[in-house]
This record gives sequence, structure tokens and C-alpha cells, in this order.
Amino acid sequence: MNKKNLVVFSAIQPSGNLTIGNYIGVLKHWKKFQKFYKCIFCIADLHSLTSLNKENILDRKKSILDTLALYLACGVDPNKSIIFIQSSVSEHSELNWILNCNTNFKELMRMTQFKNSLKNINNNLNAGLFNYPTLMAADILLYDTDKVHIGKDQKQHLELTRNIAIRFNNCNKNIFKIPDFLMIKTGSKIMSLLNPKKKMSKSDKNHKNVIFLLDNSEEIFKKIKSAVTDSNNPPNIFFDPKKKPGISNLLVIFSTLSGISLCDVKSYFLGKSYSQFKNIVFKVINNCIKKIQKKFFFYRKQEELLIKIAFEGAKKASFIAKRKLSEVYNSLGLLKKF
Ligand code: TYM
Repeated sequence: MNKKNLVVFSAIQPSGNLTIGNYIGVLKHWKKFQKFYKCIFCIADLHSLTSLNKENILDRKKSILDTLALYLACGVDPNKSIIFIQSSVSEHSELNWILNCNTNFKELMRMTQFKNSLKNINNNLNAGLFNYPTLMAADILLYDTDKVHIGKDQKQHLELTRNIAIRFNNCNKNIFKIPDFLMIKTGSKIMSLLNPKKKMSKSDKNHKNVIFLLDNSEEIFKKIKSAVTDSNNPPNIFFDPKKKPGISNLLVIFSTLSGISLCDVKSYFLGKSYSQFKNIVFKVINNCIKKIQKKFFFYRKQEELLIKIAFEGAKKASFIAKRKLSEVYNSLGLLKKF
């Protein structure tokens, strides 16, 4: 099959600032995917309503536009891909309801992300957090997606999406395409800087754990300096996530941004102290982030352009989503006219 006929879907929640984990795990690859696939990139603003940090209206609007400007800064091209904001295409919410009615409560209870929220948030847990994976399934299934580009933490949600789609197809003809996941080999789970056993996350309250794409050089420098390594003497810099989680995490960041493979990093850093190693990692990150930020500020200043791009993307997405939703409604005997 011609690869250009395959649909790749991906999305990021605009809940606060994007991290270098989002960049390395997904965003960095979208520019290249546009050459090979039909790409649909969504800003999952409805998902971000579930987040604990209750942002005010202005913060939320800012996060959405920041995310869009970062997509463009990383090379996503509205002439090659569909870029849109989730809430602008109401079919996502409509299909979400239908999929909720086809999803077992127990399946949602098994989601690791939800179980973690249950542990951490407890009495402030909203129902949106529980139903979050069915909205994600709606995002994916509306577009006959072949491949969903995600980091490791979203794999369970994609497996659920596949199960929901297969079950729906069994009862209602083959309405949905069953999507596969697309995950990069190195960098699909960048870890926290101070606790390299935990995923780097934009919602982490301790900002020392996270490098944000909009951090300045001084902040990045301090964060890399305080990142956990180990106390091997003499220093020993090689990739082994089990024995050396802190060093290995920095090596993954270094490798994905510099293009020097993980096989070659040991000889590259041979004889270097941890402090020299960190200086080199800092330089690579800083170079990369500075380039992104230069383009980011160029786009971010042009709010009207951003809104126009999102609006036009939503029109294209809506056209596809409406067609799929009408098939779903018909298959269920619902009488809505599209
Ligand atoms: P979100 O916004 O948490 O993250 C966006 C994407 O970035 C990946 N990611 C990472 N990759 C590597 N290392 C990390 N530390 C790291 N942190 C995040 C995530 O795996 C994700 O692919 N529910 C999704 C957004 C979403 C979505 C979708 C994704 C909504 N609908 C449909 C794919 C398809 C989320 O919260 O991702």
C-alpha cells in the first residue's frame, strides 16, 4: 500500500507548557511524517479540562495558542497536515458519548493513568478523568486512523481504543478501522530529572524534574546540573536504564537530539567527568530549544494567523469526522440528519 494513503493521528493536551518529553516522544517526528503519511494533528483541549490545575480562561487560551505555535515551530505545516483544536470539531464529543455506552466500567477502572489519579487526587477526582480514554478513542476512530503516534504512557489507552472498536464492529458492521500504534524506538518515555524512575510530565509540580520547551538557557542549565546521576567513581557513562537510570535518561535525551546513537555514546563520553557530561548534554538541549523558540516567537506573535490555521484545520477535520459519525448514527438506528 502507498504509505501516503495511511492516516497518522496524534494529539497533545494543552495543559500547561509542553516538555522536552513531548518533543522527543512525538512532536519532533511530525515534520518528517508529513512526507510519508496523511497526518492529522490535534490539540486536545477538551482532555485538558480534566487536569487538576484549574486554569482561568486566559491561561487556557494561552496554552492552546502556545501549543499550536509550537506545532508550527517544530515544522508541522498546515498545507501538508490537518492541524485543529479538538473542541472545534463537536463530533469528538458526540462519538465520545456513544463509545462510553460501549465501554465497560471495569475496563476504564483498569487504566493505569486513572488508577494513579485515584491514588494522587482522591476526593477531587472528576468523572472526565475516568472517561478520558473514550474521548481519546473518539479522536482516533473518527478519522479511519491507521497509526496513532504516541509515547509509551499512552499505549494502554490505544489498546483500549482497539478493543472498543473491535467490539463495536462486531455488533455494527465494520464501521471503524482498527488503529495500530506508532512509537519511536528511543525516547518514547523520557524520565524525570530528579526521579528517573518516573515519567517526565508537564503536570509535575516540581519544575526541577522537567525541561519545558519554553524554558530559558539559565533554567535549563540549572535543571541539568541538578539532574540525578550516580556516585560511581571513576565516573562511568554508558546506557543501562536498570543500573544507571539517571545517566541513561540524559543519554537518551542527548542521543535523540544530537543524532549520536546510544551504541556510540559510551566511547563518545569516555574519560569525561559527570560535570563535563552534563555540560555537553546542556549544550545539545539548549541549541535545540533555542531554535524551536525562535520560530515559536515568530508564530506566537501572529494570533490571527494561528486562529485562521486552527479554523481551517477544523473545517477539514469536521468534513471527515461528520462522515464517520453519520455512519455510526445510522448503524445505531439514530435519526440525526447530517
Ligand atoms: P499528553 O499531552 O500527556 O502527551 C502528548 C504526547 O506526548 C507523549 N509524552 C511523552 N513521550 C516521551 N516521554 C515523555 N516523558 C512524554 N510525556 C508525554 C505522550 O505519550 C503523548 O503521545 N491523551 C493524550 C493526548 C491525546 C491523544 C489523543 C494522543 C488526546 N487524544 C489521540 C493520541 C491520540 C495525552 O494526554 O497526551
